[in-house]
Amino acid sequence: MPLNVAVIGTNYLGAAHAAGMAEFGHRVIGVDVDPGRVAVLASGHSTIFEEGLEPLLAKHTASGRLRFTTDYREIADWADVHFLCVGTPQSESGAADLSQVWSVVESLGPLLTRPTLIAGKSTVPVGTAPLLQQRLDRLAPGAGVEVMWNPEFLREAFAVSDTLSPDRIVLGTRSAQALETMREVYAIPISDGVPVVECDIATAELIKVAANAFLATKISFINAMAQMCQAAGGDVTLLADALGHDTRIGREFLNAGLGFGGGCLPKDIRALAARAGELRVDVLADFIASVEAINEGQRAEVAELAIAQLGGDIAGRKVAVLGAAFKPGTDDTRNSPALTVADHLAAAGADVWIYDPEAQVSGPSFTQAETVEDCLRDAELVLHLTEWPLFRQLDPADCAGLVRNRVLIDGRLKLDRARWQAAGWKVVQMGRAATL
Ligand code: UDX
Repeated sequence: MPLNVAVIGTNYLGAAHAAGMAEFGHRVIGVDVDPGRVAVLASGHSTIFEEGLEPLLAKHTASGRLRFTTDYREIADWADVHFLCVGTPQSESGAADLSQVWSVVESLGPLLTRPTLIAGKSTVPVGTAPLLQQRLDRLAPGAGVEVMWNPEFLREAFAVSDTLSPDRIVLGTRSAQALETMREVYAIPISDGVPVVECDIATAELIKVAANAFLATKISFINAMAQMCQAAGGDVTLLADALGHDTRIGREFLNAGLGFGGGCLPKDIRALAARAGELRVDVLADFIASVEAINEGQRAEVAELAIAQLGGDIAGRKVAVLGAAFKPGTDDTRNSPALTVADHLAAAGADVWIYDPEAQVSGPSFTQAETVEDCLRDAELVLHLTEWPLFRQLDPADCAGLVRNRVLIDGRLKLDRARWQAAGWKVVQMGRAATL
């Protein structure tokens, strides 16, 4: 049965969730404090580059099932479920900044007069939901507002497919009524066989950050092994392939290279470490600190390698950087490993040119090239830092004709080394010291 669903916060998570809820047959209103974003979404367009999102927004804004507003009064007593999808960015201390979550509660709470469910999707420190419940009990006394947690796991570039076919649905509540409502919300994926984990609120809050911490750990582990392979003369990609055949380990998230970035993984594990510190779970805080240190080290290492390839003096030398987004398939450059390396090289005086098929880079330190050819022309060093498929399709011989030096640092270990070497390139891949 279709429900009235409000989605509060309509950036990556909220826009995909609102469109997904409409696709599941519900009547949906997305709310955001940014009138510009609301206007774009209301016209059926997306404010972000995300595969499949715009067609879904267009479909459901046209059908009338999906609307957007800046006005909380339109959703307060209308919605059966209010999904909380606002951002929880990193604060200066490393802990999560919950100001947007609190601001929603302060705006929405006084308007609620009938029983409703507030389902948190934002990534928050464990222990947040009970505080929100207490505050809402004060702001809407007697209304019957229930807070539960339903974390999201969507990946950028796969936001729509992860929303429509999630790996699992986590329902963190002890209320039978809340569970029943959420099972209606997700009736379609549940009938498709998506597993549901019912648990208490604290576990639900923790599941999301634990998943991200585990993924980050896999990446840092393989990057530490890459250093071992480099030191001992091994090949980390073959090592990862062999590990991946063990189904207990799995091959995913074992790609060595520049490490993880983006708007989620780095901030979420830092927030988990901060919360672990507050709760005196030092083993976890220390563990995450190691994972982060390995990750930061990879960026520094690639930058140093680049400088060393140019004999230690990079000032005024043209360097071509292929890729700016934090991963392929997105235009997002938040905490992008590629840009950290580019920044480092620019700070050392290099003339840094960047090409990315989607991401825009700004700032005085770089030149954004319009084409790969412009980026490569006369470069003394080429760095492959975001593994867009089009970079794998480049012809090494054509590229050789453009550059001044045929030196390539493949920071993502995704280029075909033998092909590039055959065209006369020196190819540097950290963790692949084994000779062919
Ligand atoms: C991540 C989680 O995957 C998702 O479940 C969560 O909801 C949000 O955070 P996302 O930020 O979109 O999603 O990025 P993801 O695909 O996980 O990649 C994160 C980073 O790790 C990227 O910079 C990527 O390049 C890097 N990475 C990934 C590696 O360095 N090696 C790998 O093997 C995999």
